Amino acid sequence: MPVKPLYRPPAPTPRSPLRSLLRVMRQGDGDLLSLVPEEAYREPLTWLGYSRRSILLINDSELCRTVLADREAIFPKNDLMVGALEGLVGDSLFVSSGDTWRRQRQMIDPAFSHMRINTAFHSMVGAVDDYAALLDQHAEASSDFSLDLAMSHLTADIICRTIFSQTLSSSIARDVFDDFLLFERSVASVNLRQLIFGKPWASVEQPAAVVAACARIRHHIGTLLDPRLAGNADAMDDIVAAVIAARDADTGKPFTREELIDQIGVFFLAGHETTASVLTWVFFVLSQQPAVADRIARDVNAVTGGEAVEFEHIRQLPFVRNVFREVLRLYPPITFIPRVALKATTIAGKRVKRGAMIMISPWTAHRNALLWENADRFDPERFDTDCPRQGDVGAHMSFGLGPRVCVGASFATTEAVLIIARLAQRYRFHTRNLQDIRPVARLTTRPATEIQVQVERR
Ligand code: HEM
Repeated sequence: MPVKPLYRPPAPTPRSPLRSLLRVMRQGDGDLLSLVPEEAYREPLTWLGYSRRSILLINDSELCRTVLADREAIFPKNDLMVGALEGLVGDSLFVSSGDTWRRQRQMIDPAFSHMRINTAFHSMVGAVDDYAALLDQHAEASSDFSLDLAMSHLTADIICRTIFSQTLSSSIARDVFDDFLLFERSVASVNLRQLIFGKPWASVEQPAAVVAACARIRHHIGTLLDPRLAGNADAMDDIVAAVIAARDADTGKPFTREELIDQIGVFFLAGHETTASVLTWVFFVLSQQPAVADRIARDVNAVTGGEAVEFEHIRQLPFVRNVFREVLRLYPPITFIPRVALKATTIAGKRVKRGAMIMISPWTAHRNALLWENADRFDPERFDTDCPRQGDVGAHMSFGLGPRVCVGASFATTEAVLIIARLAQRYRFHTRNLQDIRPVARLTTRPATEIQVQVERR
């Protein structure tokens, strides 16, 4: 059945650099997306001219690979991002570099192996089923609720259950969730000001509320961790057990308590709002494309016989996976992947100053009309392997590229396919405030205003 390939989901209309800047100032919501000028959607490299520090937006998949993989040592993680996150997650996997990063990555990779994800799947199903009970009440009462918040709760619950074998309803997990929301909102607003006016490697003071939230989150993670360090960590087969058991390949040493708190903080930070962001857009798009939602429901029922979704069904749902990949393309949760030039150098023959900010840009690369047919249209069938219609699948970089590629990509894909399959099998989603919906780039790609929805039981 042909799906509607010509649906154009909401996105800012790109303007000239000056008009883009004026739009951001008028909107006043710190949105980086509106700052991106028209040319950045086609040119492989674009200098953003309005900042004190030079900012280079990179759009071409080969150049992105050069920065993220081949010349990784010259272009480490961006100082502004590291400064914003280190109070929360120390020098952990997401922000570290060089030998420290290599040691951590080697110790953490096994915690996200296929086997671990298979084990985690039962916890994911438990969270989705519990959430469905809540959605049933919304369906019964025909009540409006925030899709953004619903997806944040669900993915936070999955992170709590798979990392710590705790549900989000436990009071500590709830406190961690609330403080993370506070952190993500407040830290993001610091970024745009600093991006435009800041000097390279300047130390940026975080608002007192952010510092306090970080301290509380670390304290709570420690409280959850201590009984596991005191007892037999292997007794529970969750991600914390795997990370506690991990050993440095050279020294045989485990992570210290502080290092464990850092790494667990990263799993919460990188593994919860990212997945929530893309799922929010998935169910919004499905509310606008009911034929696609119906096809998902039919596919899922055909594979599961109308019963629960099991781990082995995940691979048997290619259309659901394509919907996920297509929404990831249109709304990559990490809108820009930031790096910094450690020394003066060149990229594609262009001179780059020491301290220049290099923004690898999934947002524009995924909407580049030179790389993608109908780039701004929703067309999940473009990923159908039987009829590939676009030359450069390598242009899809939602999970990053090179050695720093997302450690949780398979985890997130399994989780998202399960949630899309299960919820589309059971409900139709209806958006109530369509006219308000536009994406903005904060810590992740989010709707500027929360999306209000109703659900209807199928
Ligand atoms: C749809 C969901 C997700 C998206 C789009 C996403 C995206 C990304 C991207 C783009 C990077 C690379 C950042 C860079 O190079 O600067 C990354 C790294 C990372 N992600 Fe994810 N992520 C997702 C889910 C997850 C999950 C579920 C976890 C864990 C529970 C996770 C943990 C991490 C970690 C630890 C890193 C750092 C890896 C390293 O530097 O070696 N992510 N992610």
